[in-house]
Amino acid sequence: MDKIIVEGGHPLKGRVNISGAKNAALPILIASLLTEGQNTFINVPDLQDIKSTLLLLKHLGARVETYNHTVQIDCGGLCCHEAPYDLVRKMRASILVLGPLVAKLKKARVSLPGGCAIGARPINLHLKGLKHLGAAIELKHGYVEAFAPNLKGAEIYLDTPTVTGTENLMMAAVLAQGQTVLRNAAREPEIIALADVLNLMGARISGAGTSIIKIIGVKALRSVSTRIIPDRIETGTFMVAAAMTQGDIEILNCEPEHLNGLTDKLRLTGADVTINGKAIRVLGQDFISGVDIKTMPYPGFPTDMQAQFMTLMSVSNGLSLISERIFENRFMHVSELKRMGADISVCGRSAVVQGVSELSAAPVMASDLRASASLILAGLVAKGQTEVNRVYHLDRGYEDIENKFRKLGAAIKRVT
Ligand code: EPU
Repeated sequence: MDKIIVEGGHPLKGRVNISGAKNAALPILIASLLTEGQNTFINVPDLQDIKSTLLLLKHLGARVETYNHTVQIDCGGLCCHEAPYDLVRKMRASILVLGPLVAKLKKARVSLPGGCAIGARPINLHLKGLKHLGAAIELKHGYVEAFAPNLKGAEIYLDTPTVTGTENLMMAAVLAQGQTVLRNAAREPEIIALADVLNLMGARISGAGTSIIKIIGVKALRSVSTRIIPDRIETGTFMVAAAMTQGDIEILNCEPEHLNGLTDKLRLTGADVTINGKAIRVLGQDFISGVDIKTMPYPGFPTDMQAQFMTLMSVSNGLSLISERIFENRFMHVSELKRMGADISVCGRSAVVQGVSELSAAPVMASDLRASASLILAGLVAKGQTEVNRVYHLDRGYEDIENKFRKLGAAIKRVT
């Protein structure tokens, strides 16, 4: 199994290009299921989760071609309505095929994704919404079986603003008869990106990016050619890397507007953050102040940046209170950071981080995607050589991360 070895103590300097957003690309590629004809998506990141999605789409009968960050998908000949356990268990986002399959083929059989390291992650709201749209749903043998000869627009209230739940229901409602209103919808940039692509396909969606999304059903959707937005979490990870290493990084081809929550907090730590169009420059400082964060649905501080920010706080000159409000078990990185000398106490969904003057390198184990990134960040400043194991988590969501860090001056390598 691959591992990443990082030697700490090299300030990062230079420019880095941001890849397309994983969490925007996944639902957008899956939205092809709703169309006839060949779709072309550019700026698709080369990631394990994208490969898993394309495998699933092929299993459903899609014709898929990939070259140079471009993916072409033709779903004209869908022949299967089942997403099997073996494909879904590798990637929870596979549940996103449920809405489009029900809308297009009138039926779907999708394996229940189950829990994951960061929490139970139920899909009750996806199912509740589909039932409101008129689908008959049964849970049998670990699968969701949905049958919907006639989806009809409905008023749907989401108890919590779920990202993939909002996406699934938008994709089901675009072909339903009449108007659907999603209330307390998620407002993440990835929701807007999906709505934009669906509208380009001929859907009639308004309000994406607010908590009330209105969808007027149409008869059919056409194929499109479109570009995936930049990855805000990859951007944020490099911003934190600059702040941690007293580096000077210019992050190119990103969307600074999507990172207001993080930018504000980074400035409070003392980092110098300058925005210039689609670029962000972060200049780290010697003195890192302790700053509190609380993860919230967008536009609040993203849970997907909590682990990385905690690592920054572990070498701050102060105290920081970190509250995780989205997932109940997203502190798996804490025990590994503590093995590197961090001073962190966890109580329920909060962690108190007392900054230390130095981390010391250690072999560590990545538990999930963003935890893996936080351990690489820790390795960048720790004294000695850190060995990050189980990096397959990292390959699910960060494209070419070790090369990007190496070009910025990090001493980092992958050992196979
Ligand atoms: N929830 C429910 N019921 C549901 C759905 C969600 O109670 O039916 C709860 C969850 O348990 C959680 C909260 O709602 O407490 C928010 O979960 P959400 O559904 O928004 O998460 P998700 O859609 O499964 C997406 C991203 C995650 C990201 C979260 C939160 C994708 C493919 N995944 O997950 O990304 O952390 O939103 O922003 O878009 C990552 O990229 O590392 C990652 C985990």
